Amino acid sequence: MDSKVEYKTTSDITAYKVSGDKGKALNYDNIFQFGAESISTDLLEKIRNIRKDLPLHPLLSRQIVYAHRDLEKMLHLHSIGKPFYIYTGRGASSKSLHLGHLNVFSFTKYLQDLFDTTVVIQMTDDEKFLFNDKLSLDQCKSYAIENIKDIIACGFNPKKTFIFQNTEYMGEMYSTVLQVQKCLPFNQIKSAFGFELDGCNIGKVSYPPLQIAPCFSQCFSTQFNNQVMPCLIPCAVDQDVFFKLSRDIAHKLKLPKPSVIHSKFLPSLLGVHEKMSASDEKSVIFMTDTPSQIIKKIKSAMSGSTGTLEQHRKTGANLDLDVAFQYLRFVEPDDEKLNNIADTYKKGTLTSPEVKKILTDIVLKIVVDFQLARAQVIDEVVAQFKCIRNLPY
Ligand code: TRP
Repeated sequence: MDSKVEYKTTSDITAYKVSGDKGKALNYDNIFQFGAESISTDLLEKIRNIRKDLPLHPLLSRQIVYAHRDLEKMLHLHSIGKPFYIYTGRGASSKSLHLGHLNVFSFTKYLQDLFDTTVVIQMTDDEKFLFNDKLSLDQCKSYAIENIKDIIACGFNPKKTFIFQNTEYMGEMYSTVLQVQKCLPFNQIKSAFGFELDGCNIGKVSYPPLQIAPCFSQCFSTQFNNQVMPCLIPCAVDQDVFFKLSRDIAHKLKLPKPSVIHSKFLPSLLGVHEKMSASDEKSVIFMTDTPSQIIKKIKSAMSGSTGTLEQHRKTGANLDLDVAFQYLRFVEPDDEKLNNIADTYKKGTLTSPEVKKILTDIVLKIVVDFQLARAQVIDEVVAQFKCIRNLPY
């Protein structure tokens, strides 16, 4: 990699900053210049055929999960009965997951069901501490625990899922972290993440190996009985830089290259040029929000219909810029209903408040169902998921 060129997954997206031009959707395409491939209809068909009883996930068919590195390799391994594991993670910067995270974790749970495989989930309490000046280490640790409960509530298989916090699991990973560190020149990290030399604490520079290490199964020798296995990483596209680096160094460690599958972001309530962010209250629907908060927030979401009702009837809405419609693409499972909303809203038959009302009803149901599942996750359940134990694969 040219050390002078900052690695950006897209022109608007880097690992630690996501924002584009106001009034424009985020540009997700730069990743293709860095060797990722789009998920073709052919590949979608192969995924659909893995389990006939499991419908293709709408995030896949709608191209929200849209890019990959070597996903075909994983499909091949699965078809010949060879094991691999799934690795994903979360850096908790708030007490609760938001609607965007829920989507990512529900998708990971779908992959677990699809491949019937083990999942490891990294909670980066260290990362949030190092990158967020406002958070104390104790806060980061307690957010991680609360978020673990949320993640469990997404329905992961307790027999096949291991969740760990970096501050606790570091000892188990340290040998791999050291090997990763030794392969990564300072310049490469600096340019890949765009770290400035001045004012950047050294924890930030030394963090990437912590997120790279779990791509290699030796971090989980007890869980996987010392078996070397490749891994598949579902992640939001801003995280790709970590895994591109993992793939670049795998041969030096004589370990299998991880595969990656990338998703776009649920936009901010404030507009499609930003992602929903737990650290910006106005942008976000938390899974702990009350019905009245949700109703209010969706009402004020950025609309793709401007002007008077009369104008709207004439010109219709710009769906690309309409936050409520974009959310429906994530949460309305029925393609026919979604297409119907799209057609009538674009023409101006359906209005912005009507679309927001449709969305509100769906989100309220999702949040209520989630809160019920979350209430069942007591401390003993968390301990079960965090226990270092042999996992069947
Ligand atoms: N850095 C991610 C975040 O800020 C957390 C994370 C750790 C992660 N390991 C991962 C995300 C693997 C996706 C895949 O949320």
